[in-house]
Amino acid sequence: MKLTLRLIPILAVAITIVTFIVAQNQVRSEKRGLRADLERRAEILAESLQETVEPVLQWGSVDQLQRIVERFGSRERLAGVAVYNEKGKVLAVSSKLGSHANNPPSVFTQIKEQDQGIGAYEQIAQSTMYIYALPLHRESKIVGVLFTFYDTSYIEAQSARIWRETLWHVVAQLLLIILITSFVIRWTIVGPITRVAKWMRDLRNGKVVPFPLRIAESFLGPLSTEAASLAQKLAEARAAAKEEAQLREAGDSLWTAERLHASIERRLRGSSLFVVSNREPYQHVYGGKGIEARVPASGLVTALEPILCACDGTWIAYGSAEADRETVDAQDRLRVPPDHPHYTLRRIWLTKEEENGYYFGFANEGLWPLCHIAHTRPVFRADDWEHYQRVNEKFAAAVLEEIAGADRPFVLIQDFHFALLPRLIKAKRPDARVAIFWHIPWPNPEAFRICPWERELLNGLLGADLVSFHIQAHCNNFLDTVEQSLECRIEWDRFAVNRNDHFTLVRAHPISVGLPECPESVMEVSPEENRADVLAKLGSDILFLGVGVDRVDYTKGIVERFRAIERFFEKYPQYLEQFTFVQFGAPSRLNIKRYQDLLNEVAAEADRISRRFQTEKWRPIVLFSRHHSHEEIEPFYRAANFCFVTSLHDGMNLVSKEFVAARKDQDGVLILSQFTGASRELHDALLVNPYDIDQMAETIRRALEMPLEERCVRMQRMRRVVREHNVYRWAGELISELSEIRLDTREMVETR
Ligand code: G6P
Repeated sequence: MKLTLRLIPILAVAITIVTFIVAQNQVRSEKRGLRADLERRAEILAESLQETVEPVLQWGSVDQLQRIVERFGSRERLAGVAVYNEKGKVLAVSSKLGSHANNPPSVFTQIKEQDQGIGAYEQIAQSTMYIYALPLHRESKIVGVLFTFYDTSYIEAQSARIWRETLWHVVAQLLLIILITSFVIRWTIVGPITRVAKWMRDLRNGKVVPFPLRIAESFLGPLSTEAASLAQKLAEARAAAKEEAQLREAGDSLWTAERLHASIERRLRGSSLFVVSNREPYQHVYGGKGIEARVPASGLVTALEPILCACDGTWIAYGSAEADRETVDAQDRLRVPPDHPHYTLRRIWLTKEEENGYYFGFANEGLWPLCHIAHTRPVFRADDWEHYQRVNEKFAAAVLEEIAGADRPFVLIQDFHFALLPRLIKAKRPDARVAIFWHIPWPNPEAFRICPWERELLNGLLGADLVSFHIQAHCNNFLDTVEQSLECRIEWDRFAVNRNDHFTLVRAHPISVGLPECPESVMEVSPEENRADVLAKLGSDILFLGVGVDRVDYTKGIVERFRAIERFFEKYPQYLEQFTFVQFGAPSRLNIKRYQDLLNEVAAEADRISRRFQTEKWRPIVLFSRHHSHEEIEPFYRAANFCFVTSLHDGMNLVSKEFVAARKDQDGVLILSQFTGASRELHDALLVNPYDIDQMAETIRRALEMPLEERCVRMQRMRRVVREHNVYRWAGELISELSEIRLDTREMVETR
């Protein structure tokens, strides 16, 4: 109301001033126009009168003159006509003028001097008149003067009319302005602000309601994103506080981001944490809006970020993307995540040859198929091995440079790209606590023996203080392999290797994801709305939806999965046009022919099966062949009846856990390959053998027909597992294990 009262007088004054200025100009130009018109008409009439009056003056009588004057004097707007002799004596005058014209007007003498027509405005009988006079001649001598008198009161009347109308316009405009301003302020400012205030009040009272949609679309839109994220943070903080209280009450040991933060701070005791991986957490690429940051498709990246954020550590990784060099400083470093920087990323550059030999060659054509029993033959080339060694040395040099100023640093090395790195680091910095986490399976000793450089790899790995895998079976395989290949002592009772008096602990730490505790995100749409959105995106109206999310890799069993879907439709045709399977397939490692062939094979297989069953409005398999962000995939996780994970062999498989974490509605079925690390934890998934197509088809039917109650019980139990064994626990236990290791002081003294 206050705003309205303040705004209306300002608008009223402004509009009145503008309207009056405009009206004044209009009156002025109207007057000018009317006068010009009058003067022109007076001149024409006087000239025609002159032609009539001059002969009468010469030969006619006074009566004749009077008649002419009367006849002309009655014209419109004409007040009268008068004729005077050269001495100023009136000869004839129209009766309307009466005695006002007995004496000639003041311009009379001017006419005689100038001998030409003259017009002037004069005050006669209390009204302004326009007078036009012309000399009358006889043989070029002035013998008289003709005067025409015009009444100009109609010009004033016209101006008065304009002013009157202006006044009414101003009144009407003011009324309109008052109405519109009150309406606009009420609907677009006061209304939304009242609603936002109510929303905030609800929030303060602990009621989680979505931000009013109509306001998000109004001029308060920019505020809505900030407010909604503030609300989200508040809800999360409340949930965390509640959870903390529950934990204290139950004496439970659930890991949270806050607990990880506190634990890492305590464990590091002032030292710093350094993580090394081949794949970087953020890649910079050229996009439509310039350089854009992208999170690559890698479970490892998802899992490690919370640790780095918790302790502001340094992540050392290969800068593989096209615009990576443009975003680092002179030391090849940058702060990430781009939106809210919490840790440092140090990029290492590799030549094309190094990348081909170390990454595509030795790591991905050699070690990857060697460790995954997926029946793709490993290829080992001496050249690749050379590059693998050089790149490990290059990374070692960079890590040593980064940890130079750090006292007793923690170094967490990731994966099969860096088997030689632990020893290279430990040789120079025995005070560093070094762990390597092997994210992929470790095969049995017979399988690993295929590698011509088996001993060198094991020797490199045993430089670490801690070697970790996802599951105990991989730890056992590793210890068996070491026992059969190297001179060393295995301490089976505490799962450790003693080689040349250096101890390496071997431990299982199953990696995981975070499971948000916030019960219902304020920004999230309801399950029903979400499902409707997803189906709208697919452009179909089906009853059942399945989802698969993978890098396109031969270990993931994508083709087997498609064949199971085909078999399912063969066996249960009643599901035709009722069920669609959506596969997100991120192309991966495309420099390797096996991966190119696989990408084509996956697309061809999806196409073949689709063509076999599809109808005009429905497709059995929809394949999205590009990298999708987690935000793009999550709605599909939430909408799906089941998620299908069919890896032929997998260290853990985080997709299965991401799916469980996304199902806050406690619905949805997980179909999971028995050859994943995750199958050892998620006992309530429907386990399948991806080589058994019929069994998988049958499991799809079971998933689609499972009663709601059973689905919920299974999902609740899986969510409990993921909640308790979350990524914070993985990181916390890994770091605490590493921090408790007794470093070999003899080695430290020798190298110092
Ligand atoms: C697996 C590996 C990771 C790797 C990821 C993606 O999960 O364990 O180390 O980052 O695949 O593969 P890429 O070769 O693209 O990094």
